[in-house]
Amino acid sequence: MSTYILGIESSCDDTSAAVICDGILKSNVIASQKVHEAYGGVVPELASRAHQQNIVPVVSEAIRMAGIDKSELSAIAFTRGPGLLGSLLVGTSFAKGMAIGLNIPLIDVNHLHAHVLSHFVKKEADDEVPEFPFLCLLVSGGNSQIVVVKSPYEMEIVGKTIDDAAGEAFDKCAKVMGLPYPGGPHIDRLAKEGDAKAFRFSKPHIPDLDYSFSGLKTSFLYTLRDNLKANPNFIAERKADLAASLQATIIEILIDKLSKALKEYPVKHIAIGGGVSANSGVREAVAAFCKKNAVRAWIPERAFTTDNAAMVAAAGYFKFLSKQYCDLSLPPYSRVTV
Ligand code: KG4
Repeated sequence: MSTYILGIESSCDDTSAAVICDGILKSNVIASQKVHEAYGGVVPELASRAHQQNIVPVVSEAIRMAGIDKSELSAIAFTRGPGLLGSLLVGTSFAKGMAIGLNIPLIDVNHLHAHVLSHFVKKEADDEVPEFPFLCLLVSGGNSQIVVVKSPYEMEIVGKTIDDAAGEAFDKCAKVMGLPYPGGPHIDRLAKEGDAKAFRFSKPHIPDLDYSFSGLKTSFLYTLRDNLKANPNFIAERKADLAASLQATIIEILIDKLSKALKEYPVKHIAIGGGVSANSGVREAVAAFCKKNAVRAWIPERAFTTDNAAMVAAAGYFKFLSKQYCDLSLPPYSRVTV
């Protein structure tokens, strides 16, 4: 009998549901929330309400697209955290209600583990996957981490940001340039036409494998402030160069620590994940770094870089295989606990 896992993701501003059958993806539906664009960032209260509106149609559509009836589901996997608590409560409560109604197991998934395990979302049975242990550079709007992935169940965070995440650096710098939220994709687009060496921004000097991006943000801000004094059209005239230089600095910071991590943990495979892994420059730089070091690079399809339930279902499938079910009384959590 086939194993069908329904995955539900509601940790931030994307409501998503996906179905996988024996590890193979059958559907992945994502409803993004446009309502936040006008506010320049995610408004938690509005995100929870939008999840409430979206969750029933999104889950129904994922099951319909998988070509099954809900009675055929084997288990429900849901993102329990970290994320926005109000958003997580919607997915958690829905998953619990549905699991009780169908009398099937409930599986809690750590959102960051799911990003790492997005590389195990298979479209065909013979799709290749990374070999354990591998390193994963997890870069999103809320996290910048280097993770040693020992197995689907055992991950060690060996480096993390001590202040802003890489995505925040993209978004906050884009905001001061007057670009819409989220700014990361706009910087990516502009950077393609700019000179990456036009401006120099400060890079952090912090020990170990940890990251820091707040100094870069300040350095970017000062560059704008100083140049705007002399030329009020500075941003408009130099936006491509600013974007390219900013992106290049973020990439240098990311690769520096990844290189250090590879020396400490000499693995054969390196993966990237999270929203910032959609960045063209980051993808190219990681691929080039891996090639130079004779390591296999795992660059996710763009659809699996941002929040999606396919990765939650994939992570849930691993837990299903080892019967790691969760208790119905477990609440969601907003902060990282691994
Ligand atoms: O993983 P994700 O969807 O969710 C959060 O953790 O919030 O990541 C969102 C982040 C945002 O900061 C967004 O600007 C960034 O990913 N992002 C990008 C690109 N696409 C998304 N940053 C740079 N270049 C991109 N192409």
